[in-house]
Order: sequence, then structure tokens, then C-alpha cells
Amino acid sequence: MTTTDVNRTGSAGLGDGSGFPVTTTESERLFARANAVSPGGVQGEGRGSTPFPLFMTRAQGSRIWDVDGNEYIDFHSSFGAVLLGHNDPRINAVVRRTMDEHGVSFSTANPLEVELAERLIEMIPSAERVVFSCTGTEATYHAIRLARGFTGRERILKFEGNYHGWHDYVAWSHHFATDEGGGVPTPVAASAGIPAAIRDLIEVREYNDAVGVRELLAREGDTIAAVIIEPVFHNAGAVLPEPGFLEALREACTDAGTLLIFDEVITGFRHGPGGAQGRYGVTPDLTTMGKALGNGFPISVLAGRADVMDQLGPKGDVLFAGTFAGQALGCAVALEVTRIVREGSIHDHLRRLGERLTSGIQAVIDETGARAQVFEIAGVWTIYFTDQPIRRFRDFARFAMDKNHPVQRGYRDWLLERGIYVHPHYMIRGFLTGAHTEEDIDRLVEATASYFRTYRDLLSEPAATR
Ligand SMILES: Cc1ncc(COP(=O)(O)O)c(C=O)c1O
Repeated sequence: MTTTDVNRTGSAGLGDGSGFPVTTTESERLFARANAVSPGGVQGEGRGSTPFPLFMTRAQGSRIWDVDGNEYIDFHSSFGAVLLGHNDPRINAVVRRTMDEHGVSFSTANPLEVELAERLIEMIPSAERVVFSCTGTEATYHAIRLARGFTGRERILKFEGNYHGWHDYVAWSHHFATDEGGGVPTPVAASAGIPAAIRDLIEVREYNDAVGVRELLAREGDTIAAVIIEPVFHNAGAVLPEPGFLEALREACTDAGTLLIFDEVITGFRHGPGGAQGRYGVTPDLTTMGKALGNGFPISVLAGRADVMDQLGPKGDVLFAGTFAGQALGCAVALEVTRIVREGSIHDHLRRLGERLTSGIQAVIDETGARAQVFEIAGVWTIYFTDQPIRRFRDFARFAMDKNHPVQRGYRDWLLERGIYVHPHYMIRGFLTGAHTEEDIDRLVEATASYFRTYRDLLSEPAATR
């Protein structure tokens, strides 16, 4: 089996990342320009791809078009941000109305932020107070500073592989930055430029390791300000909390006087009107949300217990600021998104499509004997090219850490050739939206079936030997 039978316009086989199976002349041309003006030719790590990224120029509903005119069913969905689908007409109408009647941003108190805060307090179980910023990273940054200010403690516990944004306090042990050893994970900085001193403020445990968290908090809880977690581990696809895990965190945090922060930047609004905390019935002290709330417009939330949140400025002594905090356009969009989310049919739609996707792909796995697993929850779907159980990041990191892993790259290229876009990432992960249809899912299932049948022998080998 060769790993190099991909060419620029020919058929995809197992990818080595040297080209694409679709016409990419304009993307390549743009990349040459981009490379001269931005590091790596893209806006951040998540967008890099070899030999160059596809430059997308338009998106509508479940479709996206690249600059060469190729049309794809888009399962990237803006890293999950466009819950309703691209360019939703209901949102566009609100944007136009807001710009006509209000404007974009005044950086003053405004009525839309009050209405949105009231709405979110009705929807999110942990929300007694709410503040706004633009990105998920800002929300987790504020959450951690607030937890430190409130508790007077400085250390933070996070989980290996969980991603909470790029700031120095959380950019540890995620994505490629993992500790290869066994035992308790050592914090690994995800970037050059993070002060080494911060290492002393970070503890890392494995996802689903309730015992490890309990032990640490029982022993050293009086120095730990917060435990921050993705309640459903979507930065490794769709790894679920084992029964009792979130409850155990809640109990251990309460006992230790440590704040529990649910980072619901992906799960928020997607898992239901109350996010993952609504789904699992575990209420954190603080919650961060973003992505889906703006359906592509930048708005994020920090919400939580009144006594904790009231320590934020100007009421309390924890600095909270931002020119765009509560900007009118973002709030107006979020009011419309939450209206639609509360109405409820989006979640039924995601559930129906998700079941269609998993049952279709599972049938193909069964038929071909591939060592692979498919999971989906709340419209986040993933294929793990291994048959070993995935319950923590290390299980996943063993086979999924390379954007150009031949089997994963080969699958993405195979889909691309069939008009389906799954973003180049270190895993196979897609996001369903309100705009995806049963036909979109059927095309994905058919394309997946032909890939699995074509590479039946290879995919039924153990993951370690591929
Ligand atoms: C769980 C989680 N938290 C925080 C962030 C950071 O959000 P943003 O990229 O908007 O800064 C992300 C981004 O993917 C995320 O997945």
C-alpha cells in the first residue's frame, strides 16, 4: 500500500499531504501571497495545512466554496461556531436591523446587554450573573483571574488535552503538547514564550480520573483556586464524562473550597439550552461560553454564582474590562440565537442527523471489520481510527496526533474529492448544524463507506502498525 498516491488533481488515496485531489490553483496562488505577509500564511495554528490551506471564500447553509470554485458540504462549521449554519437569514435580518436602529458598538452600558444577560440567567443553570467578551479565550482568562481573586489561591487544575484558548494560564498540555510518560501528567507548555514560573501554578490530571482529582484536592485543595474542564471533551472529538465523573469533581471542589469552572465554549447552547451542565445536571461555580452563541459573530460569556461574579469590577476588585464587552451587534445576534435555541427544534434536528450519521458509519465499520469507532453527541461527530477505548487524551494521542497521519489525511482527501470538507486537524472531527440535511449525511456516509471498503485491509490492521 503506497502512501503517496495523491496528486493535485487526480484521485485521492492514502494521503501524504503533498497535494489535493481537487483543483487548487487559486488557493496555491493566494498562499504564496499570504506566506509573504503572515507567518505560515494563515491566521493561527488551527488553519495550517500542507502543502497549503484551501482558501475559502463563501459559505451558505451547510455549504462552503473555495477560491477555485469547488463546492463542499462543510463539516468544519467554523470550529463549531455556526450552530444554525452559515449566513443564517434570521441572523442576517437581525444584523441589518441592529445596524440600522442601533449601530455596532458604543463601549457604554446598553439595553441589549441587559436583555441578553437576563436571558442567559434564565437558560444556564449556573448563571446568576453574566459578563460578556468576544472570544472563548477571553472568557476563560477572566474566569481564572476571578477564581484566583475570589479564593485568594493561585493554582489551577486542568485536564490533559482539554483546550481552553491560547492564554498563558491554560495553554498547557493540550493538542500536541503532551507528556509521553505514564503516571500523573506533567504540565507541558503549549507554546514558547509562556513564562516557566507559570508551570508551578498548573496541575494536570487525566480526563475521567476522578480519583486523581479527589486525591489532589483533598491534599492540596487549599492552594487550588479552580478546576477547569471541558465537561464533554470535544477537543478530542466526543469523549464523554464517565458516569459520576462530573459529580465527583463537583463534590471534591465543594469540599476543598475550589471553584469548578465548566468551559462550555463548544458545548454551550449546542448540547441544549442549558449547555452540558443542563444535560448532565451538574452545576459549576463558573461557566464560559462562546462559539454557538454568536453563530459566527464574536461574543463570549462568563457566567456564574452571584457571590463569585460580584467580585468582578467595578463592583469588586478583580479587573474586568474590554472595549468590545457587550457590543450591541454581538448581543443582538446572541438574543436571536438564544431565541432559536430555546425554541428547541435545533437539538432534535442535531439528534436525528447524528443518529443517522453514526448508524450509517457504524454499519460500514461492521461490514468492513475496520478497527475504527464513530461517536456523535450534540452534532459533534468523530471517527477514531482505532478499536481501543478512548476515555482520556492519552488513549487518543497514541494514534491521532498528526494532521498528516496517512489514514486520517487519506480520509479527509477522499472526502474532499467527493465534495465534503472536514478541516485539517490532528483528529477527524466534524460539527453538524441546523442547516445540514439528511442528504448531506447520506453523502458523508456513502463517501466514508467507499473509503472503508477501498482500504478494508489496511483499516482492519491494528492502529499501531498503520
Ligand atoms: C473548549 C474551548 N474553550 C475555549 C476555546 C477558545 O475560544 P476562542 O477560540 O474563541 O478564543 C476553544 C476554542 O476552540 C474551545 O474549544
